[in-house]
Amino acid sequence: MTDTAAPVVFVLNGPNLNLLGMREPEIYGHDTLDDIAGRLEDRAQDLGLSVDVRQSNHEGHLVDWLHEAQAVGARAVLLNAGAYTHTSVALHDAIKGIKTPVIEVHLSNPHKREEFRHRSYVGMAAKATVAGFGAASYLVALDAVLHL
Ligand code: DQA
Repeated sequence: MTDTAAPVVFVLNGPNLNLLGMREPEIYGHDTLDDIAGRLEDRAQDLGLSVDVRQSNHEGHLVDWLHEAQAVGARAVLLNAGAYTHTSVALHDAIKGIKTPVIEVHLSNPHKREEFRHRSYVGMAAKATVAGFGAASYLVALDAVLHL
């Protein structure tokens, strides 16, 4: 069980990440988001943290959750904004608008992919980026929270 007294890290996931495990597995792997959430919960416990893992296909939900992270005093946010990474000025502004540190996370390495993935509005505002380790990107980012 996750220790609810432990500092919370929000793990926010954007569009199409609910399809992980079935979606282009040659790029994103076979783990589902639930698999990743389970691993994050275990790792968080080892680190003395807790995680609150969420997913939405709607940009505004992600904006609201970034605001909520600050309101509840979250230690950090891990944000995989999916395709909104490359389009969303609203997410860029939300990250800049809160004091809670945000770490951008990607399973794939967008810089090795199509040119339209090379620009990240999230990365331009985030504290740091972890990308290219598959599902392990989330775990590397969670470990990094202790170094913030
Ligand atoms: C992604 C990379 C994005 O370019 C893409 O739109 C996604 C997933 C990743 O985790 O590798 O949906 O964020």
